[in-house]
Amino acid sequence: MIILITGANGQLGRELAKQYHKKKGIDLILTDVSDLDITNVNRVNSFVNENKPDVIINCAALTDVEKCETEIEMAYKINTIGPKNLASAANQIGAEIIQVSTDYVFAGNVNKPLTEFDEVNPQSIYGKTKLQGEIFVKNLNPKHYIVRTAWLYGDGDNFVKNMLNLSKTNKILKVVNDQKGTPTSTVDLSKVIIKLVEDKNYGLFHCTCKGECTWYEFTKEIFRLKGITTEVSRCNTNEFPRPAKRPEYSVLRNYMLELTTGDITRNWKEAIGEYLK
Ligand SMILES: NC(=O)c1ccc[n+]([C@@H]2O[C@H](COP(=O)([O-])OP(=O)(O)OC[C@H]3O[C@@H](n4cnc5c(N)ncnc54)[C@H](OP(=O)(O)O)[C@@H]3O)[C@@H](O)[C@H]2O)c1
Repeated sequence: MIILITGANGQLGRELAKQYHKKKGIDLILTDVSDLDITNVNRVNSFVNENKPDVIINCAALTDVEKCETEIEMAYKINTIGPKNLASAANQIGAEIIQVSTDYVFAGNVNKPLTEFDEVNPQSIYGKTKLQGEIFVKNLNPKHYIVRTAWLYGDGDNFVKNMLNLSKTNKILKVVNDQKGTPTSTVDLSKVIIKLVEDKNYGLFHCTCKGECTWYEFTKEIFRLKGITTEVSRCNTNEFPRPAKRPEYSVLRNYMLELTTGDITRNWKEAIGEYLK
């Protein structure tokens, strides 16, 4: 089976490649923006036609939510047109497409875990562009897997690394305690994506680790695990005004996994414990 991963130098792309490398019978094609810019429709069509992948996993995205607010055109190109190009090119050769999406498609103002059947209402440009990406993928290729995740960390820049770095130069850190979500390891997400493909379990899926916490609680756990003594104090989102509106409560329930082949993700505390070892 030939698998093409786009955005392969990102956090998720790296972990997926690592896990697929351990499997037999998989030919991996790893690309990033310099080899395959997903916003270029002609390049995407010719690359896909030449390489004939069975599966395309799109890990490319503009994930800087603040930048999306100012670079709106770039955000639509990467997060909406990119997935559109890939889904269509895959469909032309009968290949499957995996699109990774986000909890930011929800408004996040309802205090209950969100399932795939709940109404979307993105509040930021990032969320809007990712939702439109989902819609193109769904409409352009019946063999699709759309996987929404959240608070992702792995091999790359992420919240965990930021907090560890900040702890080196600060005695006290203020962290927001009025946004809830679920930190998710790229290890768990990659396992689920690989299983979805193996099972040919098409459709829309939520995939985060289990449980929930605030950014403050997440930071406390990171520092506890690393034995870091930097003091962490609670603050509210309005103390750090930022251009992109963030969902207050965006805990995702992996309901479609529960209803189909089962949810193999770990609790977020177990996953971060392993990551920080
Ligand atoms: N990170 C999170 O907390 C989070 C939360 C929810 C959902 N997600 C979703 O999960 C997926 C993976 O996220 P991640 O954290 O692994 O992202 P990431 O680390 O930011 O990686 C994204 C990769 O895409 C590449 N890229 C950007 N524009 C491209 C283009 N036009 N063509 C090809 N590649 C391009 C980037 O290259 P450069 O670095 O050179 O630009 C980077 O290597 C994304 O779909 C994201 O929206 C992430």
